Amino acid sequence: MRSHYCGQVTETLLDQDVTLCGWAHRRRDHGGVIFVDLRDREGLVQVVIDPDVPDAFASAERVRNEYVLRVIGRVRRRPEGTENPNLPTGAIEVLARELEIVNRAEPLPFQLDDDDTSEEVRLRYRYLDLRRPAMQERLRLRARVIGALRRLLEERGFLDIETPMLTKATPEGARDYLVPSRTHPGSFFALPQSPQLFKQLLMMAGFDRYYQVVRCFRDEDLRADRQPEFTQLDIETSFLDEQGITDLMEDVIRRMFAEVLAVELPNPFPRMPYETAIQRYGSDKPDLRIPLELTELSDLMAGVEFKVFANPANDPNGRVAALRVPDGGKLTRREIDVYTEFVGRHGAKGLAYIKVNDVAAGREGLQAPIVKFLPDEVLAKILTRTGAENGDLLFFGADSAKVVNDALGALRIRLGHDLGLVKGEWAPLWVVNFPMFEWDEHDQRWNALHHPFTAPRTDDPAEVQANPGRCLSRAYDMVLNGSEIGGGSVRIHRQEMQNMVFELLGIDAEEARAKFGFLLDALKFGCPPHGGLAFGLDRLVMLMAGVASIRDVMAFPKTQSAACLLTQAPAPVTETQLRDLNIRLRRTP
Ligand code: AMO
Ligand code: AMP
Repeated sequence: MRSHYCGQVTETLLDQDVTLCGWAHRRRDHGGVIFVDLRDREGLVQVVIDPDVPDAFASAERVRNEYVLRVIGRVRRRPEGTENPNLPTGAIEVLARELEIVNRAEPLPFQLDDDDTSEEVRLRYRYLDLRRPAMQERLRLRARVIGALRRLLEERGFLDIETPMLTKATPEGARDYLVPSRTHPGSFFALPQSPQLFKQLLMMAGFDRYYQVVRCFRDEDLRADRQPEFTQLDIETSFLDEQGITDLMEDVIRRMFAEVLAVELPNPFPRMPYETAIQRYGSDKPDLRIPLELTELSDLMAGVEFKVFANPANDPNGRVAALRVPDGGKLTRREIDVYTEFVGRHGAKGLAYIKVNDVAAGREGLQAPIVKFLPDEVLAKILTRTGAENGDLLFFGADSAKVVNDALGALRIRLGHDLGLVKGEWAPLWVVNFPMFEWDEHDQRWNALHHPFTAPRTDDPAEVQANPGRCLSRAYDMVLNGSEIGGGSVRIHRQEMQNMVFELLGIDAEEARAKFGFLLDALKFGCPPHGGLAFGLDRLVMLMAGVASIRDVMAFPKTQSAACLLTQAPAPVTETQLRDLNIRLRRTP
């Protein structure tokens, strides 16, 4: 039906005939002449309809926004002074000879170029929202990212293999989406939280290098960077250690960035132990573009009288730390109040601070209500440790380590943005040396920090058992600009170790057999050392597109309450369907 895309009609086609199809983006009547901006996925072109061509003109008079049109015309240079330098097609226009209204459109529920349309309306009419050039650009970027990653992996010998969607629960820490079985009354499939166990089985089957662009399902609390179904680039390899896997993966990401964004990422990516990340940034996914750092003060505060600091300093699970803000002395009382309220949302009970007016003047040079509670030598050490200079502000967090890390970690990011301290555009790193387990105070049990199939650094199950809390794993996360874009590990490939880890996690032999018997069996029949990782593709594309919501890089995302406004899913089903599935609702909604 057409010879060119609208957005591709440029000066190279001057004086040629073109046939275009697209949507009427805007129509303007100008003293007898009608202009229509015709839009397709490649862009906009200006079509001119002259009254000298009566048929086309009569049709053009009936054109409304978003009508679908087919135009035949000749490309000509725009008259001087009417060029639009902001459009690739801005130097030319198409003088129409024929204009066919292919289909009409009712007035849209929102204007496509209105940037303030509510997300609810955008999601309800997603097919219209997706007509907007910004959304087209983002989904195109997504396709280019996935295309480049596939090619780079295939060049490195990776095979694309599909794994089941109707399967058994895979523990990744979220709730499962369940699918009732009609043929096995009372039994349910789980949609995969990830293909974790299948990819390990593929290594046991000898495929050596596997990848898949795969949908994963997790019923968890949603945030701006989480969706209930999302896409992983899932990868597994055999006979590579963590260095080999991470080298390979960062090479793929580096090349993809170079190809798609013409961005050169650092080579190699920095590596940071988990403990360092927590100590210095309060987070296991530090945004290294922000130069602010936490300073440990717990040891200094153990002996002070100020209980707010002394109590957490003397608690093994507590922490006292400072965040030095260069030039922060200029923050007003009001601004500090806003930050105090902000850390409160992360659980902090307060936000003590000291204004550093004159480092050399000792106590006299410091300004804050808490100064009087702290002895001279402690104040002096705070200044040297934080490297404080005149004009700085020091913020303090004192609480359980978790609260201090969450609060000061978030404050660090917030201040970095508020004070314009963000340096450089891209800061990738690997976070390594994660602990194997973390203690769950509430349930009084160990949890796997990554997942139960991650190998510990030691090969000796007895060592793991002797001191689970000190045991480090062979897991690694790829972090970009403060976002975890991928995570993985070398896996357990011996049955004794897998049994020991299950036992520590409180999964007894019977439960292990019922849930993971197939894996335990497979470990017996010649399992190669293996490991891999999964990238969160939506998150990665979200960062590359520079948008704040994961929904903006997904064609048909769900809302924060895990519903699809377009199709109205989830929805009730009929009584017959329920009966077929052997399901009776406990109560009708
Ligand atoms: P993990 O659970 O860390 O590891 O997931 C890998 C990556 O997937 C992304 N991600 C999400 N993205 C959007 N919405 C969500 N709800 C969501 N949850 C996770 C993150 C994360 O880094 N099987 C292991 C991988 C492995 O060990 O190989 C796994 O799934 O970017
Ligand atoms: P208070 O003794 O509660 O008046 O607190 C004195 C100062 O310490 C105030 O600036 C509080 O904001 C701050 N503060 C109180 N609790 C904490 C805490 N857990 N961490 C950091 N600062 C705190």
